[in-house]
Amino acid sequence: MKSDDEIFDDIEGMVLRDAAKLYSPTVIEHFNSPQNFGAIEDAHANTFMSGICGDTIGIFVTMAGEKISEIGFVTNGCGPTIACASALTCMAKGKNPDEARKISSQQLIEFLGGLPIEHTHCADLAVNTLRGTLAKLP
Ligand code: FES
Repeated sequence: MKSDDEIFDDIEGMVLRDAAKLYSPTVIEHFNSPQNFGAIEDAHANTFMSGICGDTIGIFVTMAGEKISEIGFVTNGCGPTIACASALTCMAKGKNPDEARKISSQQLIEFLGGLPIEHTHCADLAVNTLRGTLAKLP
């Protein structure tokens, strides 16, 4: 008889195999190990936005001179939403606000190695939330 840990590993393996049929390795990596996750308490700017599905992303930015020195996100969204916000924060970190504002949904999707059509709006939500945050910088 299998132990609880072995049963959990079996289920986790099945979930990952199913996810790999739909999502690129980069999407799965950012979903499993989100980068820059968490709110930044004394951020210079932040914005929360909700997508057409009701999922919400919040993005927080702290500047050091002209560059984004710290960037964090929170979300109540699904795996692709987490992956989009995580990847976008990686793409934006270290850039100046004008450069970060120019990152498009298409560029984010390409960075992620593609997204199923029903989840391309997750990229739009992440990009729009970052742009909303950048627009609030003093
Ligand atoms: Fe709606 Fe990801 S933002 S499913």
